Amino acid sequence: MNITVKTGGFAQEQSDVIAIGVLENPDFYSAPLQNIEQALGGRIRELINLGDFTGKHKTTSWLYTNGAISSPRVLLVGLGEYHDLTVEKVRQAAGHAARTIRDMGLRTATIPIPVEATPEMIQGATEACLLSLYQFNEHKTDTGDENEKKQIESITFLVENEHSRPSIEDAVQRGEVIANGTLLARDLSNQPGNYLTPTQLADKAEAVAEATGLGCEIFDKATLEEKGFRTLLAVAQGSVEEPRFIILEYVPDPSPVTGGDPGEGQDTVVLVGKGITFDTGGISLKSGGGMHEMKHDMSGAAAVIGAMQVIGQLKPNVRVIGVIAATENMPSGTAIKPGDVVTSYGGKTIEILNTDAEGRLVLADALGWSAQYNPKGVVDLATLTGAVITCLGHIAAGAMTTDPELMAKVKSAAIKTHERVWELPLWDDYDEGVKSKVADVQNIGDGTSGTIAGGAFLKKFAEGYPWVHLDIAGTAWGMKGSTYIPEGASGYGVRLLVQLVEDW
Ligand code: BES
Ligand code: ZN
Ligand code: ZN
Repeated sequence: MNITVKTGGFAQEQSDVIAIGVLENPDFYSAPLQNIEQALGGRIRELINLGDFTGKHKTTSWLYTNGAISSPRVLLVGLGEYHDLTVEKVRQAAGHAARTIRDMGLRTATIPIPVEATPEMIQGATEACLLSLYQFNEHKTDTGDENEKKQIESITFLVENEHSRPSIEDAVQRGEVIANGTLLARDLSNQPGNYLTPTQLADKAEAVAEATGLGCEIFDKATLEEKGFRTLLAVAQGSVEEPRFIILEYVPDPSPVTGGDPGEGQDTVVLVGKGITFDTGGISLKSGGGMHEMKHDMSGAAAVIGAMQVIGQLKPNVRVIGVIAATENMPSGTAIKPGDVVTSYGGKTIEILNTDAEGRLVLADALGWSAQYNPKGVVDLATLTGAVITCLGHIAAGAMTTDPELMAKVKSAAIKTHERVWELPLWDDYDEGVKSKVADVQNIGDGTSGTIAGGAFLKKFAEGYPWVHLDIAGTAWGMKGSTYIPEGASGYGVRLLVQLVEDW
């Protein structure tokens, strides 16, 4: 879909529809709304007086213009009460409007922007337009479903005056870049396991790096053996697919004032993603029902790749490293067994009590590896525990930390993007639960507080830097109730990570 920004009036715009936001019980009409009201001879007021349209959030109403203006339809889009209006409300309203327009089979839309709209709202509306229309139809041949063919081709944001145009163009462009990163993450996460093996995931990451000017290094099995990534290799040993360790690097340009080498004097942030391209549970095999959903078990990796694509394009002033541990988790004659002991990259030993708790094993190596960058912050994203869904549903990620300051930054980014996080404690009291009789640590906890047990395990390997763990098992897919997030992969984490890095 093509999005453009244009200065001018709506009267001559030849779109299939003019979509315009309307507040509930407003004290005033925005200038574009007033103009439409005038052009249509008071028809909006009439609808409101009849009670047919109130401006309630996420409602819409069609008006037909009968030649009064060049476009044949107007879509009134309810924004709710002014004092309740947030960027998220705008996203939800824009997502609802975009889907309504698409479902009508319309191809072109014009959205007049009132001067009252903030850049954050415009960025949010852009993101929501693109994100709400997402479908994953790659593996469908022509099903004859007419609805799947409906597509909005272009959206024009109409600006009242030339003066505000640059800031609106900037907001729209940012929205597009961020949405595209999120769409990339959804595509990766939705891809079936036979189309996205660890090797293919690495190839995709490499392609993103090449297209975006990021550094990229990929360790194959032989390199992982040489470097001592023994827990990643342990999880991978049951599969015929080779594991991959993926490193993406964004280095900002030197300061124009102080000069120096690229990245010199700038903080480093590391983003770590769990990249299990399919999780059968291994020898501790999962039950059959719903197992296909474990193709999404690389959603943490997908969020990191999506965020790195955006970061490469928006070029923030901080060095960012994306690190991904990718493998399948399969049962076989060569697979790890409950009771096996493995040594992690950093040298700590782990007793594997359940091979289905594989995410924390591969992350142990990734977190150990991350220390060498001397990072000011490490954030890992992992579909780590089913327990986080019991705890927080498909609404918020479980967040745990060793560093309240970094956690505050993550929470702030989560509020701005509405990619919700909820902090769970990681007090030392929980360390007892991951103690092992035969190794330094065991991988399942004591059967209580499963999500925190995952965090308590990871904490042992996230040493020497500020760290936040996000358990995204509930938010990576299966989110409902949002107009701009479909039910499959959500792309959760891309917007949050980008915001975190941009606010750094
Ligand atoms: N990938 C799963 C977690 C998961 C479960 C994500 C359901 C999304 C939906 C993870 O590898 C896993 O299996 N975790 C186990 C840990 C347990 C064995 C300690 C779990 O949650 O049951
Ligand atoms: Zn598992
Ligand atoms: Zn898993």
